[in-house]
Amino acid sequence: MQIVLALAVIVPAALAQTFYGCYTEVPTRALTGSSLVNYTTMTIPDCEAHCTGFALWGLEYGGECYCGNSLAQGSFPAFSTDCTMPCAGDATTVCGGPNRLSLYGVSAEAPTFTPYPVPEPVTAPEYEGCWTEVSGVRALSGASAFSATAMTVEGCADYCLNSGFTWFGLEYSAECYCGSELNVNSTLAVEEDCNMACSGDVNGVCGGSNRLSVYQWV
Ligand SMILES: *[C@@H]1O[C@H](CO)[C@@H](O)[C@H](O)[C@H]1NC(C)=O
Ligand SMILES: *[C@@H]1O[C@H](CO)[C@@H](O)[C@H](O)[C@H]1NC(C)=O
Repeated sequence: MQIVLALAVIVPAALAQTFYGCYTEVPTRALTGSSLVNYTTMTIPDCEAHCTGFALWGLEYGGECYCGNSLAQGSFPAFSTDCTMPCAGDATTVCGGPNRLSLYGVSAEAPTFTPYPVPEPVTAPEYEGCWTEVSGVRALSGASAFSATAMTVEGCADYCLNSGFTWFGLEYSAECYCGSELNVNSTLAVEEDCNMACSGDVNGVCGGSNRLSVYQWV
């Protein structure tokens, strides 16, 4: 007679969780409900458990967890490559980045995001020069956009203005970054460093490698 031993493994019911991607932080916090900070033990499940009852939670800078029911104005989807910091308590997983949240929530749908109001009055973008990207963070830390084939200076200008930012910069031919200010650690580079044509306009200059063609709406 064959004896079959069935082992009952008790697993806590997994909470519903959707990963929405990498989002920008805002000065007043994108998620303002509750927070938990631990730079030695933080894991994604720790944050999820801490944020029980909230619609959204996000992990930032390896060890910070924030909860909320909606994203504060000015938090935008960011490039996934901005969220690369390992979780303090589980280095095989990612817990955001500097001023970037790995955002999770209970809904299958990504949360809506609300741009800042369009700054007014502005008339035209003014060129501010070729500036360096900043190590670890973005020289322009607000909204961002990518287009492998259609990036233009004008397109980035409009995108950033409509997202509520007066500063914008184009980098590596296809990337557009917006901000309310240029990071103080970005430095003016020689003009020749911004030597890449825009992916959507061979006559336009869209920065270079770690270099931004920077403009300000004035
Ligand atoms: C982080 O968590 C560990 C383990 O629970 C605890 O010993 C430590 O005090 C926590 N650190 C902070 C800053 O809360
Ligand atoms: C600029 O760099 C300094 C030195 O690394 C750092 O302490 C500071 O936080 C940076 N400032 C910004 C706005 O990133």
